[in-house]
Amino acid sequence: MRVYIIGAGPGDPKLLTLRGAELIASCPIVLYTGSLVPNEVIAHARPDAKVMDSSGMTLEQIVDVIVAACDADQDVARVHTGDPLIFGSTAEQMRRLSELGISYEIVPGVSSFTAAAAALGRELTLPELSQTVILTRAEGRTPMPPREKLEDLARHQATLALFLSITLLKDVTRALLPSYGADCPVAVVHKASWPDQVIVTGTLSDIEGKVKAAKLHSTSMVLVGRVLTATEFANSRLYDPEFTHRFRKGVTATRKQGDVRAD
Ligand SMILES: C[S@@+](CC[C@H](N)C(=O)[O-])C[C@H]1O[C@@H](n2cnc3c(N)ncnc32)[C@H](O)[C@@H]1O
Repeated sequence: MRVYIIGAGPGDPKLLTLRGAELIASCPIVLYTGSLVPNEVIAHARPDAKVMDSSGMTLEQIVDVIVAACDADQDVARVHTGDPLIFGSTAEQMRRLSELGISYEIVPGVSSFTAAAAALGRELTLPELSQTVILTRAEGRTPMPPREKLEDLARHQATLALFLSITLLKDVTRALLPSYGADCPVAVVHKASWPDQVIVTGTLSDIEGKVKAAKLHSTSMVLVGRVLTATEFANSRLYDPEFTHRFRKGVTATRKQGDVRAD
């Protein structure tokens, strides 16, 4: 018996991995994390599967379901939104499974932060502008570790992807303004990849008002950084004709090799 911790992807059922779909279709027990896992993903379950929504359960109730499945020697598909290892609350489940000697395997998924970037059509890392993406959240009921306050992370001016923060935009902008500047681009993608996806773009100075006007209160990714609008960035070295790497020799290197041969 095994528990498969599966990333359902951000919403579009076609963004579920083949491995995830295959496992959901084969497990007799499917335990999914509520409305953010689309029905079409759960529809992969076999007709006789026991399918349960875990959104109203406690950790111990989830573990009880898994232990019962273990006693019956039945595999469990534990389906989480996006990628299960990013703000997935999966570590505490895995810890309990390890304590109980129940084996598990993780199937990654497309996270909402990449789905949001895809919706915007923007790369989150651009040469010489930002080579770092910080995945974080604003401090709400869940406290932030003291070394990870937003105003401290902001000092890097890296691209930021903020989960679970849409209702905290006032605090977010206050923390980011001194380092990023009022004109720094911000994009909010609500329900990325779902049919009712909404995109609101602005700057640190006006995004809060725009989001309020759009009445977005949940399921939104907040992306911050100059990469969101930049057009004046350097090309990467990867496709530079002069750049030699494992799969391609740069023009000069090829010429030199030719010279050596000619010698
Ligand atoms: C509990 S976290 C789960 C994140 C998930 N594991 C992931 O990798 O995307 C929930 C938060 O993820 C973000 N989120 C999840 N799905 C989203 C989507 N389709 N579009 C935008 N944001 C989403 C929102 O910030 C939401 O508050």
